[in-house]
Amino acid sequence: MTLQIRKTAGALGAELSGVDLAGPLSDAQIAEIRQAFVDHQVIFFRDQALSPDQQRAFGRRFGPLNIHPYVAGMADFPEVMEVIKEPQDRTNFGGGWHSDMSFLERPAIASILHAIEIPDWGGDTLFASQAAAYEALTPGLKAVLDGLNGVHSAGREYSAKGHSAQKRSSMVVAEAEGVTGEYIHPVVLTHAETGRRALYVNPAFTERFDGWSKRESKPLLDFLFEHSRYEAFTTRFTWSPGAVAMWDNRSVWHFALNDYPGQRRHMRRVTIDAA
Ligand code: SIN
Repeated sequence: MTLQIRKTAGALGAELSGVDLAGPLSDAQIAEIRQAFVDHQVIFFRDQALSPDQQRAFGRRFGPLNIHPYVAGMADFPEVMEVIKEPQDRTNFGGGWHSDMSFLERPAIASILHAIEIPDWGGDTLFASQAAAYEALTPGLKAVLDGLNGVHSAGREYSAKGHSAQKRSSMVVAEAEGVTGEYIHPVVLTHAETGRRALYVNPAFTERFDGWSKRESKPLLDFLFEHSRYEAFTTRFTWSPGAVAMWDNRSVWHFALNDYPGQRRHMRRVTIDAA
């Protein structure tokens, strides 16, 4: 296979063409896609037609699939999550900067999102390279961050007591009462496949630095959250029906824009766990 690869921005992102993800795909084809994925951090495909089964099969070529602890998957395909905003919904799923599943003990490495129905306008997804964000810091701050761990929790997003924007959308949220699990991850992750270092804190799920109080953590976290979404670290994807985005949660934040009131948006996501 010869993939055509066109970068979408300086910091991250590439659109790939010349492949039908419905398969069958050889190991060599998967290796080529995987290489583009780690090189560009988020990759995009147009005009794909994946059934839930085919999307699941494609995802499984990259590792075991995650079953979301708080959002119900499709009845026959529990690994496939429907990301839907109905015309009457005010909030959307993923409408803030985050990395998927950083609140787990073993966070997801990748997510694959497939557009089924898109609004006539709006509903783009933004992506921000946390590798570029880390590399832009001074040696002094890098040295401080290199020694820190972050405490991550799903509580703010998914518990009944939390902000729970997700619960007000049409997404089916499984019982999230008593979300108390906190997991600790390095603030700077070294990518297992590239060795590239990236910031690994995010506004949705990072509560504080390990060993620091929330109050002590807030100023530095606020700085990092502001810094990490600087425009030059981002790329923006305008969806078309059938488009697919596959991003690396180890080094990329994403943000689903909620700028299409009164319209429906329907996507399907599979999420890949560390092997
Ligand atoms: C998500 O956070 O996975 C949803 C992204 C999107 O719908 O664009």
